[in-house]
Amino acid sequence: MQCACSRNICGIALTNNMPPLLDIKELTTVFETNRGRIKAVDGVSLSLQPGETLGIVGESGCGKTVLALSIMRLIPTNGNIIHGTVSFSGQDLLKLSAEDIRSKRGNEIAMVFQEPMTSLNPVIRIGEQIAEAIRLHQKLPNREALALAIEQLQEVGIPEPERRAQDYPHQLSGGMRQRVMIAMAMSCHPRLLLADEPTTALDVTIQAQILDLISDLKKKNNMAVILITHDLGIVAQTAQNVAVMYAGKIVENSTVNEIFANPLHPYTKGLIDSLPAGCGNDGNDRQKHLKTIPGSVPSLYNLAVGCRFQDRCSWAESICAEQEPNLMEIKSGHFAACWIAKQAKQLN
Ligand SMILES: Nc1ncnc2c1ncn2[C@@H]1O[C@H](COP(=O)(O)OP(=O)(O)OP(=O)(O)O)[C@@H](O)[C@H]1O
Ligand SMILES: [Mg+2]
Repeated sequence: MQCACSRNICGIALTNNMPPLLDIKELTTVFETNRGRIKAVDGVSLSLQPGETLGIVGESGCGKTVLALSIMRLIPTNGNIIHGTVSFSGQDLLKLSAEDIRSKRGNEIAMVFQEPMTSLNPVIRIGEQIAEAIRLHQKLPNREALALAIEQLQEVGIPEPERRAQDYPHQLSGGMRQRVMIAMAMSCHPRLLLADEPTTALDVTIQAQILDLISDLKKKNNMAVILITHDLGIVAQTAQNVAVMYAGKIVENSTVNEIFANPLHPYTKGLIDSLPAGCGNDGNDRQKHLKTIPGSVPSLYNLAVGCRFQDRCSWAESICAEQEPNLMEIKSGHFAACWIAKQAKQLN
């Protein structure tokens, strides 16, 4: 059987399309805590083509970071991936030895974290830190690694890279530190970049510069990008496809254009309606209708039976409290986990 969609998220093998670079199936990551076990990532399936940018959006606590850390196999010690596969170029990352996954990280998959100060060593000069990553992954001698590090700083738009390479992280602005993180991530030419809220701590102008930089590097290197953000506006500017996460699950997945033109899940609609004017790409004048989504993401410790969004949903019906909806292909290439969307009801 062949999947009708182009996204291969329904778990049916594609025969005619290019094989995905990343193909995640049913990924489930749990944390053991003193209040019990929670599923921070709950049965997530998604795929990514080479050179594609996929935006992952959702409010705080939806599981975006844990999903990225699970792909990298960098989850904290109280966490455990209990189910699923993460196929990268046809190889399941979850089955690799510790040494093999270390080599994939940095060489083929790199991650940029939200807060660069927590990822950069404050007492080592930045040129040295990038050179160290290059030395480690490319097994180059010190001098060559440092020369490449300086080249990489130039590549990410740091002025006077030779002089700046001598700086310590605290001597740089927030935007420059984020550029250094990107330089480090790019230093080994990864095929996949996981960018976790790379611009949250930055002001709007610098934010736009960093997003442009990621887009340029992506094009130049034919790199795939997973861009994690709570801001659908950023996704609209940067990504081709989007997966919306809610309480550990993907609740909607399609192209950015399709999702903005025709959101199927009430949560996605809420996120779009809460964007200020000028965001998104459907030409709507939103400012007059700016709304917030009532309530907050449910605690993962005691999820209600049925849809996880039911308490915040103005369209909820009895079935929503009885049965949990799985991700269903509602339109060709457009998936949503919603009974209302399944019944083709309009979200007005
Ligand atoms: N080490 C941990 N131990 C227990 N629970 C954790 C741990 N790390 C994350 N969690 C829980 O997993 C869930 C998902 O967290 P995650 O950090 O992925 O959210 P997020 O979507 O990235 O949020 P944000 O937008 O705030 O970064 C949350 O409920 C969080 O409290
Ligand atoms: Mg996060």
